[in-house]
Order: sequence, then C-alpha cells, then structure tokens
Amino acid sequence: MKIAVLGATGPSGIQVIKEALEREHEITAIVRNPDKLTENHENLKVVKANIFDAESLVPHLTGQDAVLSCLGCTPSWLSLWTVTFYMDSVKPVVTALRRANVNRFIFMSSWYTKNNSGEPFFMKWIIKPLFLGQSLKNMGEMEDYLEIECPDIDYTSVRAPQLSHSATTGTPVKYNEGQHVSPVSGFIISRRDVAKFMLDAAESGNFRRKCMAIGSG
Ligand SMILES: NC(=O)c1ccc[n+]([C@@H]2O[C@H](COP(=O)([O-])OP(=O)(O)OC[C@H]3O[C@@H](n4cnc5c(N)ncnc54)[C@H](OP(=O)(O)O)[C@@H]3O)[C@@H](O)[C@H]2O)c1
Repeated sequence: MKIAVLGATGPSGIQVIKEALEREHEITAIVRNPDKLTENHENLKVVKANIFDAESLVPHLTGQDAVLSCLGCTPSWLSLWTVTFYMDSVKPVVTALRRANVNRFIFMSSWYTKNNSGEPFFMKWIIKPLFLGQSLKNMGEMEDYLEIECPDIDYTSVRAPQLSHSATTGTPVKYNEGQHVSPVSGFIISRRDVAKFMLDAAESGNFRRKCMAIGSG
C-alpha cells in the first residue's frame, strides 16, 4: 500500500514507519523537520509540510491509500486551561484528504476521551483535572468532528492507554469499541503494538468509522 504518516518523528510515528517498512509498504513521512527522521529506506520518502495548512499537505496525500496520524502535542502549563491542537490539526488534514481524494484516515487517540466514561478514580479526580483533561477533551472533539461532520471520511480512532517504548509483546492486542478495553486490562501498551494495530486496520479495511480502544494482550 501507499501510506502517508503524520507525526512520523514522534516515538509512535517512528514505530509506524519501521513496522510499515517491514511490511513492504511505500511510505511518505510528512514532517516539519526532516532532519529529525534518521530512518533510511528505499521505500521511505520524507517530505516537509505544515499540518495546519491543507494546501501544503495535498500534494503529499494525493495517490495515498491511507493516511496514518501519530500527531500529538507536548503538554505545557497552558494545557491545564485549554488544548486545541487536535482540532486545529485535524481540520486542515481533512480538507487535504478531501482535495487529494483519499478517505482512509487512521489516527491515535486515547482511552477516556469523554467524561464519565468509566474512568477509574485516579484518572477522573487526579490525572484529568491536573494533567490530561484538556488534551483528552480535545481528542474527543476531534473524534466527534469526524463522526458528525465528516461522513465521507473512513476514519478509525485508535484509542490507546499509556504508551511504552518496550518491544512488542508478540501477543495480539485486545480491542473493542468504546472508551477503554473492557474489562479494564492491558493499560500499558508498546508503541510498536499500536503501530501494528494501525497498519492491520489499514491493510484489512476493518474498523471504518469506529473508535477502537486497544490494550496489550
Ligand atoms: N504518551 C502516552 O502515554 C499516550 C497515551 C495515549 C495516547 N497518546 C497519544 O498518542 C499520540 C502519539 O503519542 P507519542 O507520545 O508517541 O508522540 P508525541 O510525542 O505526542 O509525538 C508528537 C508528534 O507530533 C508532531 N507534532 C507535534 N506538533 C506538531 C506541529 N505543530 N507540526 C507538525 N508536527 C507536530 C511531532 O513532531 P516533532 O517531532 O517535529 O515535534 C511528533 O512527530 C499522541 O496524540 C498522544 O497524545 C499518548
């Protein structure tokens, strides 16, 4: 397949690149700083574009079978009040997908993007209010935007729990629709296993227009 990867310089993005190259896909890594991506492969093209500017993305999305996104923003003290990164980036990406005539879009999100979504006590009363609440809220808004305003986009939201750098476990990930893997388990997952799930979804065409919670097997 021809696959474009956004957020390819991040720790999950690089795992998507490695896994996709092992599977012999043709990859276009769309990045803001090409020097940051040190991976070299004949099936890997690295291009520079601005994720907030649809026009700069269109030429690189044209001809792709799917676009995979591992974009994320680094939390700062401002994130306590508001995070708009996910909505600010998904809108131009969707505009570019439409102009490029690509409708398969698989992106990383998180468990517990919605409030009162079965969060454990610590997540609901400590982590969300003090750290991740606004990021998760904005990811949830991105999912709602795709569900409600983008009926033409075959999106899959890959809702991950805490990510690790560890190697793949080799066991199949658990998954289901919803805010978390149910019953709650597998709440630390290797980024490589997330990458495998995203590529499996791209290759199979499964999970179109669905939000899939995943966890380690
Ligand atoms: N960390 C966790 O435990 C966890 C759990 C669940 C879900 N998630 C979500 O999973 C996703 C991936 O997380 P991660 O930790 O692997 O990666 P990350 O550190 O969030 O990587 C972010 C990627 O987005 C790119 N990016 C950020 N701002 C950009 C901008 N303005 N323009 C262009 N590119 C930009 C970065 O590019 P540069 O390299 O150029 O900065 C990098 O490639 C994120 O959405 C994260 O919120 C994380």
